[in-house]
Amino acid sequence: MEDDDTKKQRVWYLSDGNPTQEERIKEYDNFCTTYEQVFEEEDWQSPYVCAETVGSYITDNRDKVEILDLGVGTGLVGKRLHELGFRIFDGIDPSQGMLTLAKQKQIYRSLYCQFFTSEPTKINEGSYDAICISGAFGKGDIPEDSVYEMIRLGKPGCIVCFVGRTVAFELLLPLLETLEKKKQLKKEEITETQNYRKDTPALIIVYRIIKD
Ligand SMILES: C[S@@+](CC[C@H](N)C(=O)[O-])C[C@H]1O[C@@H](n2cnc3c(N)ncnc32)[C@H](O)[C@@H]1O
Repeated sequence: MEDDDTKKQRVWYLSDGNPTQEERIKEYDNFCTTYEQVFEEEDWQSPYVCAETVGSYITDNRDKVEILDLGVGTGLVGKRLHELGFRIFDGIDPSQGMLTLAKQKQIYRSLYCQFFTSEPTKINEGSYDAICISGAFGKGDIPEDSVYEMIRLGKPGCIVCFVGRTVAFELLLPLLETLEKKKQLKKEEITETQNYRKDTPALIIVYRIIKD
């Protein structure tokens, strides 16, 4: 079992250490079996906040709603969504180790092992009612320009919910504003939250995808 210093070092390395994409995924692969325990010790609330925020926007027919969980990790967002009555979720993550643990939860419809970027995925346009990104955006994780692929994948009115450290959204916020001016997105909320991870300023950002 890892000692406390090793655990802290790992969380720091992934949050602020600036590893390359390959180093980062290798680290997530090594980390996956202790991820939930280590993050619980860090008071990791992000996946629950993300799922509950989506739940606050979608109250009816939850069992029919199709959701995409980006940077799915071990599937904690899906676990909470399932508790809230949602039943159809897909996940994307480049770490096979993380995906194996998400699969074991037996609640995801499809899990795709790949980086989510601005490159079009093989998923059909207009597939989802909601897109969740918990603790997986910016700062070396999911890049800002992937928002264009999110818009392609959303149905008209699709909710996109980001939960993450405030510093992770510095480049995203102006892009979202621009896309709102172009009438591709509509802002629903940008809310500060203390319920992300111990002593970590964070934001809940919700936009709605506009399509004619
Ligand atoms: C801190 S974990 C968060 C996992 C989960 N969403 C949660 O809230 O517990 C970040 C995850 O993002 C994934 N990730 C990093 N870059 C990504 C990318 N470009 N596309 C999709 N997932 C990515 C990592 O492999 C890792 O599993």
